[in-house]
Amino acid sequence: MANVIVIGAQWGDEGKGKITDLLSRSADVVVRYQGGVNAGHTVVVQDQTFKLHLIPSGILSPDTQCIIGSGTVIDPKVLLEEIDQLDELGVSTQNLYISQTAHVTMPYHRLIDQASEDRRGDQKIGTTKRGIGPTYADKSERTGIRVIDLVEPEGFEERIAWAVNYKNEVLETLYGIERLDPKTVVEQYRGYADRLRPHVVDSSLTIDEAVRGRKNILFEGAQGTLLDLDHGTYPYVTSSNPISGGACVGAGVGPTIIDRVIGVAKAYTTRVGEGPFPTELHDEIGEILGDRGAEFGTTTGRRRRCGWFDAVIGRYAVRINGLDCLAVTKLDVLDGLEEIKVCVAYRIGDEVCHHLPSSARRFAKCEPIYKTLPGWKQPTTECRTLEDLPKEALSYLKFLAELMKVPIAIVSLGASRDQTIIVEDPIHGPKRALLDAQGVPV
Ligand code: GDP
Ligand code: IMO
Ligand code: MG
Repeated sequence: MANVIVIGAQWGDEGKGKITDLLSRSADVVVRYQGGVNAGHTVVVQDQTFKLHLIPSGILSPDTQCIIGSGTVIDPKVLLEEIDQLDELGVSTQNLYISQTAHVTMPYHRLIDQASEDRRGDQKIGTTKRGIGPTYADKSERTGIRVIDLVEPEGFEERIAWAVNYKNEVLETLYGIERLDPKTVVEQYRGYADRLRPHVVDSSLTIDEAVRGRKNILFEGAQGTLLDLDHGTYPYVTSSNPISGGACVGAGVGPTIIDRVIGVAKAYTTRVGEGPFPTELHDEIGEILGDRGAEFGTTTGRRRRCGWFDAVIGRYAVRINGLDCLAVTKLDVLDGLEEIKVCVAYRIGDEVCHHLPSSARRFAKCEPIYKTLPGWKQPTTECRTLEDLPKEALSYLKFLAELMKVPIAIVSLGASRDQTIIVEDPIHGPKRALLDAQGVPV
């Protein structure tokens, strides 16, 4: 048994949904600990595709408890749509629990997110415009509405009306947006509250019970390390802490219960939204990766920017998250390429830089230094063991493990559950991986 954190090791969309779903089958509890409906986690089960925004990717395992933790921000309208969609597809949400201390995205948060992006002009972040930044800003400013405020009938109307009136000043004065009618918002949110109430719990207690019962708990990160508010490529980041440290804060558990941290990384790199991206490809290879990898945002439909694997940010993710092992996804997308490049360091002018610079200005000047490896001709989508892989693909994986000094526990070769090589079971297996940091299968 083990309590495991699954995080994105790049700029999001690494395939966390697929890996979480896969591991959920051995987990008793899955907890989302941060982010909101900016996330889009795709899970493919047989011929059905599920796109989850707030509900943990464990929901497709019928016996797994799924918890939307305290560190998340909840847009109740989108959450209810998600519940309804799952219901239509015959997936039960009876095991879904929502933390009473998570913050709630209100209609003014979306309006402010959109208006502030427009006002920033060429300084825009390229947010998902789902109101995430403004919801977390209100949490910090201590004007936020929490789930408990929604579901407790006493004071509900006054609380919501006060917040809407307070924000109307901002909407009107700063952005020239029409004021919201407090009564309409109160009625709308009363309806949401009535539907969500049965799912609301003190999630820290629920998780504690699982810990004491020696259950397997999976903590599912949203976004990725480079989008972390404190440790990402600021200001082009999200407003929460997707890194492994965020799991303890966002779920309400102590770090002593965590057994393992798994980083999910694509075999190449993608990014949605603005901000520097040293290995970005503006050529035909970039197009191939985007088309073959179907690199369109799950939430916004925007085309993702694509580039080669960047081991500088990979090593950074290992350091910041204390990664025990990696799940490398979308290796199949590289099938058939003549050669494959990996960024091993950056050049800034005459200087060689092995670590991610903190300065956004310096990061924007980084040029990748590449090591070129041979590609492979055969498709990998049907491979189920390391031995099945073309030798160049295995060498590529070993090279990544060596560069990042972390073992690879899982290799993903397609969106389906079965298109996976489990080198080591990170929940039940011993704390080691067969493809180790020196790239030596043991
Ligand atoms: P997440 O946000 O990290 O959960 O990732 P997304 O779901 O936003 O994006 C990953 C996309 O790649 C989804 O459409 C997945 O179905 C798909 N995917 C996951 N793993 C693989 C893989 O190994 N190969 C291929 N071709 N697609 C994959
Ligand atoms: P998952 O969980 C990829 C990006 C946005 C933007 C920045 C800030 O599916 O990996 P926000 O709306 O959060 O204020 O936007 O973060 N972003 C993501 N990129 N995957 C995500 O989630 C993302 N969530 C936010 O594109 O650049
Ligand atoms: Mg995604």
